[in-house]
Amino acid sequence: MSETMRAIEITKPGGPEVLKPTTRPLPVPGSGQILIAVDHAGVNRPDALQRAGSYAPPPGASDLPGLEAAGVVAAVGPDVTRWNVGDAVCALLPGGGYAQYALTHQDHALPVPAGLSMAQAAALCETFFTVWSNVFVRGRLKAGERFLVHGGSSGIGTTAIQLAHAMGARVFTTAGSAEKCAACEALGAERAINYREADFGEVIAAEGGADLILDMVGGSYLPRNVKALADDGRLVQIAFLEGPKVELNFAQVMMRRLTITGSTLRPQSDAAKAVIAADLATHVWPLIAAGRIAPVMDQVFALEDAAAAHARLESSAHIGKIVLKL
Ligand SMILES: NC(=O)c1ccc[n+]([C@@H]2O[C@H](COP(=O)([O-])OP(=O)(O)OC[C@H]3O[C@@H](n4cnc5c(N)ncnc54)[C@H](OP(=O)(O)O)[C@@H]3O)[C@@H](O)[C@H]2O)c1
Repeated sequence: MSETMRAIEITKPGGPEVLKPTTRPLPVPGSGQILIAVDHAGVNRPDALQRAGSYAPPPGASDLPGLEAAGVVAAVGPDVTRWNVGDAVCALLPGGGYAQYALTHQDHALPVPAGLSMAQAAALCETFFTVWSNVFVRGRLKAGERFLVHGGSSGIGTTAIQLAHAMGARVFTTAGSAEKCAACEALGAERAINYREADFGEVIAAEGGADLILDMVGGSYLPRNVKALADDGRLVQIAFLEGPKVELNFAQVMMRRLTITGSTLRPQSDAAKAVIAADLATHVWPLIAAGRIAPVMDQVFALEDAAAAHARLESSAHIGKIVLKL
């Protein structure tokens, strides 16, 4: 192995153009860590937030962007028991995915599911960890419940629709065009609502309200979400694309026994992420291997074209996941 690697760095906070190719020293795996020779790396909205300067990497994480990758284990650190050099893995990363080599904790890697390409495998971890922990653990979604996920065509949305549908929930979603709505319904949504043309609150109210809402929009959606919840409903917030501040009448929370919660994945402990990985291995990887769920792939860009990949992500023209080829 060479002592240096190709990577993409954030040269300063800003637009996609601040992503520039660079050369970095090869990372060295510490205790419990594996070094992955990255084949493909996933691109996610949090990468764009980090690039813009509003989502700093947690202490100890690489400053390079990239929260997920798939590839082959190239080296293992002390105390690694789960993987050997040469194993094909996909993994959640604390950062550093936009590079030829990336480090992660051994318990945050999963085998590449049977039948999936490396490009598909690279698109799994960030959204599947996020959806599992927020929809099924925090949000306690059960079969037969009415589930509303906003941004249905996003990486998160396409994952949430498929998983909730596979687990027997009734899935409703919002998206910004007829093409996106059709894609969401093909993935298992009972009804995709074009939010530019219809009021999601009215559609959900006619169904009896949502038992669970997964939201990334916030802002004006917050009071509308609270109103759209059924009694005992739960609202799980994973981002605030429209902003986090709003005036809200909390009496409804009390009177209708609602739960408002949320989380971010990246700052959670290694142990917490390992629990999510173990849950995914048990409950979700078999569904992928059986062909019942697959990541929705939008476009593959060369690593050096990371700026174009970010521009596409932020244009919101995409449906599903964007990945980089190393
Ligand atoms: N909390 C966590 O741990 C966690 C982890 C991963 C991602 N996230 C968040 O989850 C969201 C989805 O992530 P992703 O990687 O799947 O992103 P993505 O593919 O870029 O999807 C974002 C989608 O949101 C929709 N949208 C609705 N309202 C919007 C608005 N006001 N501004 C911009 N887009 C809007 C857009 O589709 P339309 O055309 O339909 O509007 C867009 O395609 C992001 O906000 C991300 O930060 C949170």
